[in-house]
Amino acid sequence: MTIVLAARRRNGAGPSAFDAAPAVPGDKSITHRAVLLGALARGTTVVANPLDAGDTRRSLALARAAGAEVRITDCDEDGHAGTGAVWRITGAPGAREAEAAGSPNGTPTVDCGNSGTTMRLGLGLLAGRPGAFRLTGDDSLRRRPMLRVVAPLRAMGAEIRGRRGGELAPLTVRGGRLRAVAWRSPVASAQVKSAVLLAGLQASGRTVVLEPTASRDHTERMLAAFGAPVERELLPDGTVAVAVEGGRMLRAACVTVPADLSAAAFFFVAAAVVPGARATVRGVGVNPTRAGLLEVLKAAGAEVHLRAERQVGGEPVADVTVTGPERLRPFEVGGDLVPRLIDEIPALAVAALAACGTSVVRDAAELRVKETDRIRSLGQELAKLGARVEELPDGLRIEGGRRLPGGSVSARGDHRLAMAFAVLALLLDGPVAVEGFEAVAVSFPGFLRSLAELPLDVRA
Ligand code: S3P
Repeated sequence: MTIVLAARRRNGAGPSAFDAAPAVPGDKSITHRAVLLGALARGTTVVANPLDAGDTRRSLALARAAGAEVRITDCDEDGHAGTGAVWRITGAPGAREAEAAGSPNGTPTVDCGNSGTTMRLGLGLLAGRPGAFRLTGDDSLRRRPMLRVVAPLRAMGAEIRGRRGGELAPLTVRGGRLRAVAWRSPVASAQVKSAVLLAGLQASGRTVVLEPTASRDHTERMLAAFGAPVERELLPDGTVAVAVEGGRMLRAACVTVPADLSAAAFFFVAAAVVPGARATVRGVGVNPTRAGLLEVLKAAGAEVHLRAERQVGGEPVADVTVTGPERLRPFEVGGDLVPRLIDEIPALAVAALAACGTSVVRDAAELRVKETDRIRSLGQELAKLGARVEELPDGLRIEGGRRLPGGSVSARGDHRLAMAFAVLALLLDGPVAVEGFEAVAVSFPGFLRSLAELPLDVRA
C-alpha cells in the first residue's frame, strides 16, 4: 500500500504549528515480555493495555504453542482488541510434551512473522521445555542473526538446528534439562539477555549474562513482579552483569503496559522539527534504558517536559510534551547512548534533516541487522528525496537544513521506516509517496489515525 503525504503550510512558509495529543499504543517490548513470562508462570497473568499488533500477536501464538491459554477480552468485531483491552494468559509452567498433531513434519511450527523479539525470547522460553518446536518468520526475520541467542542456549544444553549452523531461521529447538551458564554477549542486546534469562529460570543453578553496556531492562523489572528477582551489577569496566536463579517457579502477575516511547517518538520528532509545535503523550514509558531519544531532542534544543512522573508495574512512566524550537541544533549520537535509542534512529534521522548543520550517528552497527539494514535503507531512501546522507560502517552522517522537494520512498517492509518517512513529509516542499506503508501494522496499527493530529494531507 502506497500513501501520499503533504504538509499543510502557512502561506507558503513552513508547516503550521500544531498541538497534537496522538493516541499511542502499549509498549511493544513490555507486551511481548508479559505474554512470554505469563506463559511460564503458574496462574493467570492479566495484561492491561497490551500492544495489539502484528508482532505481539506472534508472541501470543508462541505462548499458545508452549501450552499457555490466551483469552482476549473487550474485543471489537474483528477480534482485535480496542482501547481498554485485556489479555489473560494462563501459564503452562509444568511443561507438557509438545503436541505434534496437525503439523506436517511432526514438529509444531510457530511463525514469528517479522518479530525478532518473539523468535529470540521464544527460543529462550522453549529451550527449557520438553519437545521440539520449529520457529520461522518472514523474509526479513529469516535473514537476521540468531547465533547470538542460539550459542548461549546450546551452551546451556538446548539442541537447536538451523540454516548456517543455527545463524538463520527456520530454527528447530529441542528443549529439556538446562544447566546454568555465565555468558558474555559481545553486543548490548536485550533480546540476547532476555533469552538467556528465560532459559536460566528453567536451568539448574545461577545464570549470569554479561553485556558490554546496559540494554533495555524490561525483563529484569518484570521478573521481579513475577517473583523471580534478578541481581544486577555494574562492573568497573562498564560491563553489566545480570543474574537469575534457576528452578524458581514464576507467579502470574498483573501487568499494566505503558504507552510505547518508540511509537510516541515519531510524534515527538514531528513536534521537534516544527517551530512552536507541541506533541503530548500521556502515560508513556520513560525507562532510562529506553529514553535516549528525549535526551537527544533536548540537547538539540527542543523543550522536553515530563509531568506526573510515576511508576506503573515497575516501569517509570510520565506525561511527556515535546515543543519544537525556532532552530533545531544538529546532534551526535554514539557510545552507551546507542542501545537506549536504537529503535528511534529512523525518527532521529528526520530530526537530523531539520537541524541547522550536520548530525552524526556512530557505534550503531546493530542497525544493519534490524528489520532492514537501517543504515543502508535510510541512506538510500533519503537520498531519493535529495537529502545528503552518508552511510558510515556503523552509522550515518546527515546534513540538515537543506530544502527537499519531495518524491517517492519505500519503507522496504520496515515499520519504523514507514513511520519516519510519513513524519518526514512535514519537512518537504512537495508530497512524498511512501510505498509499503502497511508495514506499520507490525507495531502501530492505528498510526494513520494518530497521524491525523499532524498538519498533513494524507491520501491512500
Ligand atoms: C528489543 C530489543 C532491541 C530492539 C528491539 C526490541 C526487545 O533489540 O531493537 O526492537 O524488546 O528486547 P536488541 O535486543 O537486539 O538490541
